[in-house]
Order: sequence, then structure tokens, then C-alpha cells
Amino acid sequence: MHTRALGQGLEVSAIGLGCMGMSQSYGPNPGDRQDMIGVLRAAVDRGVTFFDTAEVYGPYVNEELVGEALAPVRDQVVVATKFGWRIEDGTSVGLDSRPEQITKVADASLRRLRTDTIDLFYQHRVDPDVPVEDVAGAVAELVQAGKVRHFGLSEAAAATIRRAHAVHPVTAVQSEYSLWTRDPESEVLPTLAELGIGFVPFSPLGKGFLTGAVDTTTAFTEGDIRASIPRFDQDNLAANQALVDHVVTLARARNATPGQIALAWLLAQQPWIAPIPGTRRIERLEENAGSTQVALSADDMADLDATAARIGVHGDRYNPQHMRLVGK
Ligand SMILES: NC(=O)c1ccc[n+]([C@@H]2O[C@H](COP(=O)([O-])OP(=O)(O)OC[C@H]3O[C@@H](n4cnc5c(N)ncnc54)[C@H](OP(=O)(O)O)[C@@H]3O)[C@@H](O)[C@H]2O)c1
Repeated sequence: MHTRALGQGLEVSAIGLGCMGMSQSYGPNPGDRQDMIGVLRAAVDRGVTFFDTAEVYGPYVNEELVGEALAPVRDQVVVATKFGWRIEDGTSVGLDSRPEQITKVADASLRRLRTDTIDLFYQHRVDPDVPVEDVAGAVAELVQAGKVRHFGLSEAAAATIRRAHAVHPVTAVQSEYSLWTRDPESEVLPTLAELGIGFVPFSPLGKGFLTGAVDTTTAFTEGDIRASIPRFDQDNLAANQALVDHVVTLARARNATPGQIALAWLLAQQPWIAPIPGTRRIERLEENAGSTQVALSADDMADLDATAARIGVHGDRYNPQHMRLVGK
């Protein structure tokens, strides 16, 4: 697998691995922890060097899983995690990016990740109660102390990115981006290009939708976040299906899978973009990694863009409560 450079010279595999689903959001959670350790190590064997977790995934257990799985190869991989929540009794109860909280979370994450430095430490959501300059300042102190190597933001608006970057260089912004979530294109991506910051698209497979594995007959089980997302309502799914049908047709013509087309489309946007598809299965991990071998022509790209624009997207990407936290 080839590597790509995010900002500040941080090199990562072109396709990373999103680890969230190993502990939450796509219920039921995997029963066997050893299986997930096997998936993480299989990823390393296949050239993946970029792993994404967060304090709040689980909470805590996802970082512990990633820490255990990657301990033997720690110096060969880039581990990204995130802070920014107040967690009480195992549940996140709101945002908290106060500097003292960031410092506390960093120490706890280091322990769970079994490491002495976090490669990339993102603010998970912009906290309206804490100026982003203070957040950047707190991370800068952690960098100074050697506990963190790089600073990132997630779902931040362009103006916030600029303010943070002025205090401490931002290495990567992680936000939702895929064929059916185009929000970063208008302001965030041009800002990153100007400032030399990398971009990490999350939910690059549209939470599974763009692979063709989800349709109106899919019954989301308990603990599956998609049951609460408007885009996955029956009516919206039915309307959005036309986009996937088109991706499936193109995939057949290119001897690829629909998921590979969705990832190749992202990789073709910019050389400083590294998507982090999430999976709990080795065969899907291999399939997703294979997207680096899929070359889309300029005509393919134009065709995908025109089709996505024509069909449009029906339904928000989050429920109203979560929508209030993004793009700030
Ligand atoms: N910063 C943030 O706020 C934020 C928010 C959400 C996610 N993230 C990060 O981004 C990562 C990826 O996002 P995501 O997991 O939400 O969405 P995603 O990568 O778009 O999709 C994951 C879903 O697709 C399925 N899948 C994966 N590869 C597949 C394939 N080749 N064929 C068919 N189905 C496939 C997975 O199921 P299986 O697991 O069963 O394969 C899972 O249900 C997360 O793991 C997390 O690290 C960050």
C-alpha cells in the first residue's frame, strides 16, 4: 500500500482503518475481542499504517483494544485518537474541551493505547464554550511535553481551522466526506489546500450504504446508529438507492466493487486525503485496501459527480441532536 502525506509531513497509508465499529455504532458489537485484535493485526500485515480510535468509542474499550493489538508494532503505525467529551458512568453527556480536561484525557489515552506518544490527537467536536485557541494551546503543551506528535480537528468549520492553525499547526481535519456527503467541498477543502493541512474522510463508505450492502430491506439491529439517522429512513433510503445503483454499474465496468469505487473517488480528490473505512472483517479490509488499485478516469469522476448532483441526497446525515455539533 502506498503512503500519503497529511499536513506537517505526517505519512500514513493511503487507506487507514476506522476502529469505531469494533466497539460501537454498528451493533451488535463483535463478541470476541480476539477476533478484532486479529483484524487489526491483519491490517498491519496488509500495509495499513493508519488507525483511528477515540476516547469516547466504547467509551474507552476501543482505545484499549487498539492499544493491545498494535503494541507489538507500535513504532510502525500511526495511531490517531480524539478528545473533547465529558463522560459520566460510561456515557458521553456533553462536550468538554477545557485545557485541563484535554491534558487529563491525553494521559488516560496514553495508558489505554499502551504508548508514550499519541501520533495524532484530534478535538472530536468543536466546543462552543472553549475558544479553539485555548484548545490549540493545550495540545501545543502536550506536543512540547512529547505526549502528542500532531494536532487535528474533527467537523470544524473553515474559520475555526484557521484560528486553531494560527496557534499550533494543524496536521489533519477529519470530517464526514463521501459521494453522498459533500459538505467539506465548499469551504473546508479549499482552506486545507491553502494551509497545507491533510484531510481524513470519516464514514467514507457512507456507513456501509455506498457498498450496496444496505437497502430498504435491511433491518438495523439494536445499537446500530443507522436506525436513528434520517438518511437511512425507509423513504430516504429508497430515494437514495439510485446513487448506489449507479456506483454498482460503474463498479462492474471497472472490475471493482462499489465500495472500492466510493473510496477511489475520495482518493482521486487530492493527494493529501486518506480515508479511514471501518470494518470488522478481514475480507472487507482487503477489499477496501484494494481501492488504491482502482483508477477512475476523468470521465468516471465527472459521471459520478453529475449523477450524485442529479439524484441529490435525501435526509440529514445525523439526527438533529448530532447535527447541532458539526460544522462549527
Ligand atoms: N470523527 C468523527 O466524528 C467520526 C464519526 C464517525 C466515524 N469516525 C471514524 O471513521 C471510521 C469509519 O466510519 P464508519 O465506520 O462510520 O463508516 P464507513 O467506514 O463508511 O462504513 C462502515 C460500515 O460499512 C461496512 N463495510 C465496511 N467495508 C465494507 C465493504 N467492503 N463491503 C460492505 N460493507 C462494508 C461496515 O461493516 P463491517 O464492520 O461489518 O464490515 C460498517 O457497517 C470509524 O471507524 C471511525 O474511526 C469518525
